[in-house]
Amino acid sequence: TDIPARTAAVISEYRGLEGPLLPILHGLQEEFGYVPQESYQVIADTLNLSRAEVFGVVSFYHDFRKAPAGRHVLKLCQAEACQSMGSDKVAAKIKQLLGIDFHETASDGSVTLEPVYCLGLCACSPSAMLDGELIGRVGDDEIGEMLEVIRT
Ligand code: FES
Repeated sequence: TDIPARTAAVISEYRGLEGPLLPILHGLQEEFGYVPQESYQVIADTLNLSRAEVFGVVSFYHDFRKAPAGRHVLKLCQAEACQSMGSDKVAAKIKQLLGIDFHETASDGSVTLEPVYCLGLCACSPSAMLDGELIGRVGDDEIGEMLEVIRT
């Protein structure tokens, strides 16, 4: 897989837009699942930015991953409705069980943990999303089931 060439293809799709940097970064994340470091310079050259500026934007927005995700992606809702139902405790527990913080991937590559801000499941908070599947009313049972999926 030729990252610079695929990067160039994505860039050409969005570079005509006004304020093309964010659309390009979203496009790259869609293409690769993360924004590869190899693409920073290509973007910088195209948009007349410095590599550091591109890096700064990728770092600023936590939605952009700097490395490939794990085999599973677990998103925990941390928005208001879920917070009022103890999402911070759920997050603390899961972080402890997995041994990682938000925006990190387990060292065995099994899972990437990310916060998310409302999954539209407020009525069943606290909520989570594992590999695109919504999970409501996350309690100990749900945590156990999610960990089972992650570990297999
Ligand atoms: Fe968590 Fe809406 S606030 S699903």
